[in-house]
Amino acid sequence: MDIQEITKILKNVLHPKTGKDIVSSDIVTQLRLEENNLFFNLHVFGLNSSEKSELHFKCVQEINAIYPALNVHVHLVNDKISIPVPDNNLLPQIKHIIAVGSGKGGVGKSTVSVNLALALSAAGFKTGILDADLYGPSIPTMLGLSGKRPEVDTVNGQPKIKPLVAFGMPLISMGFIIEPEQAVVMRGPRLSGIIKQFFLDTLWPELDFLIVDLPPGTGDVQLSLVQTVQLTGAIIVTTPQEVAVVDAIKALNMFQLPSVNVPIIGVVENMSWFTPVENPDRKYFLFGQGGGQKLASYGNTNVLGQVPLIQGIREGGDNGLPAYLNQQADLIQPAFNEIAKATLLKINIHSNI
Ligand SMILES: Nc1ncnc2c1ncn2[C@@H]1O[C@H](COP(=O)(O)OP(=O)(O)O)[C@@H](O)[C@H]1O
Ligand SMILES: [Mg+2]
Repeated sequence: MDIQEITKILKNVLHPKTGKDIVSSDIVTQLRLEENNLFFNLHVFGLNSSEKSELHFKCVQEINAIYPALNVHVHLVNDKISIPVPDNNLLPQIKHIIAVGSGKGGVGKSTVSVNLALALSAAGFKTGILDADLYGPSIPTMLGLSGKRPEVDTVNGQPKIKPLVAFGMPLISMGFIIEPEQAVVMRGPRLSGIIKQFFLDTLWPELDFLIVDLPPGTGDVQLSLVQTVQLTGAIIVTTPQEVAVVDAIKALNMFQLPSVNVPIIGVVENMSWFTPVENPDRKYFLFGQGGGQKLASYGNTNVLGQVPLIQGIREGGDNGLPAYLNQQADLIQPAFNEIAKATLLKINIHSNI
């Protein structure tokens, strides 16, 4: 019994609205097996309560007909999938700007930004990255471009920054502009000026997605961002542990302030467990369990995916060949593909990831 088998069985269940099977309808996410337990999310937005319970029942019935001893845990997700596409008058060539935020530093925001961008890119979406962590820009290192400087072009008499390109993705970062030790002295107005330049004085090509890696917390950069452009939404990254969740709730609250009003796309739980290479069936929950779900429930949203602790992710971050593309990619790609798929689903884009 494996996930492929289960997926095949779930294909026997039809979506009451589309008439297609529920797997092709993209409403099954987070499918995972843990010993004798099967977990998955069923996105049931738009269905009435009898359709929901019938769908739930059919899934369990189909699976237990083949695997009677398996405990099937279905989590019904009622999220509004259709986050509307915002009007971006200032940057009409960019369809979706998605911010990746967190409460604390070190939880893996930049890692998630980079590998999610690569997953979207691999799925055929034109994707760029804006590293808005002005104090601690780590994306140039993660993408092997540290020490590089962007060119400046003059367009209609105005100087414009040309993004550098990493693995096919245009990229701008404070790390390309000044030395890291200079960044710490910057204050509010300077910061907001730089954020504006990164959006408006940069020659962004046509993009489906611009992923914005935020600094931790809820400061000036976050405010300038929402004052400068219309975001499609924000993804909040947390680790499973309580202290990270408590801080992440603050970040989530900030996006939901009436004056800010940025939709929450969902939560990514990073460092969810550790699995030793020599013992792939074991999971050690080093930072506890359930933090991502707790944050998602608090924010009335869902977990887009969980990323395990994998040595290749740390190495990829340090040596400029991101985990999505490095020698441990087999272990890493499924997690980020899942997050990409769930993100797309949330903004009503169907893909064949
Ligand atoms: N799932 C993971 N497995 C292993 N190392 C990770 C993982 N996520 C992040 N890291 C490492 O942890 C450190 C902090 O991650 P980073 O993405 O820079 O966090 P943030 O941007 O939130 O400060 C980096 O060295 C990164 O490579
Ligand atoms: Mg970072």
